[in-house]
Amino acid sequence: MNEQQKPIYLDYNATTPLDPEVFAAMEPYFKIHFGNPASANHPWGWAAQKGVEKARTQISTLIAANPLEITFTSGATESNNWVIFSLIEKIRREEGPNAPLHFVTSAIEHSSVMKAMKEAERRGVEVDFIKTNKHGQVEVESVQRCLKPHTRLLSFIWVQNEVGSINPIQELTALAKERQIYLHTDATQAVGKIPVNLETTPVDFLSASAHKFYGPKGAGILYIRSKNPKISLPPYFFGGGQEYGKRSGTLNVPAIVGLGAAAELCKNKLPEERVRTAFLRDYLWAEIKKALPNARLNGHPTERSPINLSITLPGTNIDLFLPKLGELAFSQGSACHTGSMDASPVLQSLGLTDSEAQGTLRLSLGRWTTQEDLNRATAILAKAFN
Ligand SMILES: Cc1ncc(COP(=O)(O)O)c(C=O)c1O
Repeated sequence: MNEQQKPIYLDYNATTPLDPEVFAAMEPYFKIHFGNPASANHPWGWAAQKGVEKARTQISTLIAANPLEITFTSGATESNNWVIFSLIEKIRREEGPNAPLHFVTSAIEHSSVMKAMKEAERRGVEVDFIKTNKHGQVEVESVQRCLKPHTRLLSFIWVQNEVGSINPIQELTALAKERQIYLHTDATQAVGKIPVNLETTPVDFLSASAHKFYGPKGAGILYIRSKNPKISLPPYFFGGGQEYGKRSGTLNVPAIVGLGAAAELCKNKLPEERVRTAFLRDYLWAEIKKALPNARLNGHPTERSPINLSITLPGTNIDLFLPKLGELAFSQGSACHTGSMDASPVLQSLGLTDSEAQGTLRLSLGRWTTQEDLNRATAILAKAFN
C-alpha cells in the first residue's frame, strides 16, 4: 500500500493509537516484571507494585490529585457504574433502605452513565435527565431548577464524546458543593486533551480511560476525593482486597504502567498539542465548509474539544456513501452505537431529526494528524458528496 492509499485515521474520539513511548514503558511488565503486585515477599511482586505506584503518581500529577485518590479500574465504563451503584448502596446503608434519593444527569451522557442511571431508576432512585442548550452544554440554571432536598448526586460529562461540547464543570462543582451534593464527572474525553485540575475544580468523583489518551485499552481510573470531604465509597468488586480494599481483582500491571506513562506524556505535551489540534480542527472545518457549503457544525462553535468536529450534511444518508469514504476512518454518531441503526440519542437530544442524525459524521483528530491528512480528507469528502 503506498502512502497515498493509506487510510486516514480521524477517529481519535473512539480510541487513540498507543504511543510508542507508552508501549516501550509497558513491554518490560509483560516480559521481566511479570509479578503480581500483591506478592509482597519477593522481588517480582515488588517490581510490579513499584510500576503500579509510579503510574498512580503519574496520573494524579496530570489531574492535580493525590495518588491515594486514584483507583485503577478496567476503564471509564466500570468507573461510571461503580460511582452510581455504590453511592446508592452507601446512602442506603447509612440512612436506611427507604432513604429518598434523587440524582441529576444530562440527556447527552455516554451510554455507560445513561444506562446505569436508567438502571438506578429501576432500583428506586428518582433521576432527572436534563436537556442541554442547543450547543450540547448543561446550563447551571437548569440544574439549579431541578434540585430537590434529597438530591444526592450530579453526574455530568466533562467533554461530550459525540459533539465535543465542553460542560461548565467548575461552576457545576461549585453548585454541588454549596448544596452538599456529590458531583461526578465522566472526564473520559477531557483527560489528556484539555486541562483537568482537581485543585481548582474539586469534583468528588472522576472517571477516565487510558485508551483515549494514547494508553492501552482496558485500563482506567476512578478518582475519589480524600479530603474536603473525605469520601469512602463501598467497593463494587469484592475479593482479594487489592487497591487498598477498594477494588478487588489482580491488577492489569502492564496496562496500568501504560496508563501512567501515557498520562506523563500528556502532561508534557498537552499545552502544545491542544493548540496544534485546535488549529487543525478549525482548518478542517474551514476547508469542509468551502467544499460542502451546506455542512453544519454540531456542538459549541468555540467551547469544544480541540480534537472533535461533528458535522451534519442535511439530506444525506452517510450509510449510502460509505463505499466512497473507505479511505477515511470516522464515526457516525458515537462509536459505541456503531452497528445499531438507531439515531444517536445525543444528536436527537440536540434537536436533530433522524434524517439529520443519519447525515452526521464525527471526525476527530490527534497526535499524529497532519495538515496533509486533512487536505486529503476534505478531498475525499468533496468527491463523495458533491
Ligand atoms: C465519554 C465517555 N465515557 C465513557 C466511555 C467508556 O470508556 P471505556 O469503553 O473505555 O470503558 C467512553 C468511550 O467511548 C466515552 O467516550
